[in-house]
Amino acid sequence: LDQGSTPTSLTGKRVVITAGPTREPIDPVRYISNHSSGKMGYALAGAARAAGAHVVLVSGPVSLPAPSGVEVRPVLTAEDMLKAASAAVDEGCDLFIATAAVADYRPDTCAGDKIKKSSEAMSLSLVRNPDTLATIAGRADAPFTVGFAAETTEVARYATDKMQRKKLNMIVANDVSAPGLGFNSENNAVTVFWPGGQESIGPDSKASIARRLVAMIGDQLGKMAD
Ligand code: CTP
Ligand code: CA
Repeated sequence: LDQGSTPTSLTGKRVVITAGPTREPIDPVRYISNHSSGKMGYALAGAARAAGAHVVLVSGPVSLPAPSGVEVRPVLTAEDMLKAASAAVDEGCDLFIATAAVADYRPDTCAGDKIKKSSEAMSLSLVRNPDTLATIAGRADAPFTVGFAAETTEVARYATDKMQRKKLNMIVANDVSAPGLGFNSENNAVTVFWPGGQESIGPDSKASIARRLVAMIGDQLGKMAD
């Protein structure tokens, strides 16, 4: 009898979350990255832990403390993130949440020495990075997978396209063009889509949005178990 648990709880669930930016080296002193602060992923990790889950947080470089009770595994590049997330899922995973802002491309080589300036223009040759979320969602033993979609236009259409293309159970869309919300900000407003429904949350603090998301994910996981 577990009278203490609620229908939305993640008690006993194993959760793997990616967070933060990735950093793709150009030479020993330079890299390509983005403005992700990691706050949404860290807030989700804390909320999932508070809901009773065992949480592994695969994190790009951010300046945030580890949420209490959460195991943080630091990574730098998109390739590192795929390796660390796959290893964490191999250890057992009921729920995978990808909040990381992964660099879509990396320099095709990292120069061994600092690149010296010479001509008036220069170009970098970039190659596509692996997609951690699509890789995990495509596994034969895929856990319940939740993606994020950062969009500046046609948010609903691009987000639901991503959910279908990557075979996700749920996608959390945020409009990163909205002033004061999303990337590198305290607050956020999101719309969550799943096959058969949608719900908007916020504007609110990332902690509040994380608690609501964890409750919604717990509901969907519970329905799948029924
Ligand atoms: N993602 C990932 N690995 C990548 C790229 C994206 O795991 N190499 C995940 C992100 O963590 C997020 C989701 O995929 O959960 C969508 O990321 P987003 O950048 O919005 O979509 P992309 O598929 O990269 O498409 P685009 O940037 O062209 O819109
Ligand atoms: Ca992308």
